[in-house]
Amino acid sequence: MINVTKTYLPNKEKYKKYVDEIYSNGWITNNGPLVQKLEKRLADYLDVKHVVLVSNGTIALEIAYRTLNVKGFAITTPFSFVATTSSLVTNQILPIFADINPNTFNIDPKNIENLITQNTSAIVPVHVFGNACEVEEIEKIAQKHNLKVIYDASHAFGVKYKNKSVLNYGDISTLSFHATKLFHTIEGGALIINDDDLVQKARYLINFGIKNTEEIPELGTNGKMNEFEAAMGLCVLDDMEEIKQNRKIVYEIYARELKGLVDSQQQNENATKNYSYFSVLFKDEALLKKVQNRLNENNIYPRRYFYPSLDTLNYIEPKQISLNSRDVSRRILCLPMYGELSLDDQMTIIRILKEAL
Ligand SMILES: Cc1ncc(COP(=O)(O)O)c(C=O)c1O
Repeated sequence: MINVTKTYLPNKEKYKKYVDEIYSNGWITNNGPLVQKLEKRLADYLDVKHVVLVSNGTIALEIAYRTLNVKGFAITTPFSFVATTSSLVTNQILPIFADINPNTFNIDPKNIENLITQNTSAIVPVHVFGNACEVEEIEKIAQKHNLKVIYDASHAFGVKYKNKSVLNYGDISTLSFHATKLFHTIEGGALIINDDDLVQKARYLINFGIKNTEEIPELGTNGKMNEFEAAMGLCVLDDMEEIKQNRKIVYEIYARELKGLVDSQQQNENATKNYSYFSVLFKDEALLKKVQNRLNENNIYPRRYFYPSLDTLNYIEPKQISLNSRDVSRRILCLPMYGELSLDDQMTIIRILKEAL
């Protein structure tokens, strides 16, 4: 069976050494030494000022909104994983959908400004499949209207924009380190924050709002990462260059073999790729289903990602319609994409796809 992705498992002996370390010091959670070590190593690797590790990417988004006091309405993209929107709703913030650019799959800055009202306090764009947003345009709009920007950068691990980390844009960027992601900690996530005071606030918020044994200055939650997850992250981080290189090979074979046959995502020319996803856009949904069925018959499971478009969620009122997002989400499929995908298996996927086309 070939799935859309496969979790990268690092060397077991190396992981066991960390487990031995955890057992000998008995510190398994609550900002332990491995969490602290991973935060420092990630800040270095990603070239950012502060990394705050948390238990998953969804809580990272929630903590970001609470750190920045986002209230009322937030303008976001309807073409994302459901957590981008559901995390807003959970925090009593109404998502206002600005439609996407149908070529880049990212929020179109041209659609943002006319949605801004007195109630808007933030913009929440997503670097879809690791493709950097038009960050400078978004920054201009945010500054003009005094809005916070929180990037859901769950897919953008290691992406550079004009030679600098794309994670430095916005007030906060969030990452997901779920097992299916390019870099992972089993479950996990992070906030990337430049402002020192905000880092402090985020750290209280992930620890129930507690500052010290006598002060609880914030309404917090439990968003802590544990030591076993941090150990996994430290092991995976050691192998990052190899992981990326292997994915690049798979990505480039798809790109070469499928060129001209299907549409694919238009990449931001000022940004690097991290090879985390390979998406294909079919001319219509019927063709997508045909390809999907043929692949499934051969025990190959690509994923309709992202589907459905989030403006169709039944729990969002008032109803909104984003035509580009609905159209793209009906026609898009993410193909199996991971470093250990064998050339034989990949050529089978490509052959079946070509035959179905
Ligand atoms: C764009 C996006 N946002 C948020 C999330 C949520 O992250 P997590 O699964 O770590 O909670 C994901 C993860 O799948 C994602 O792809």
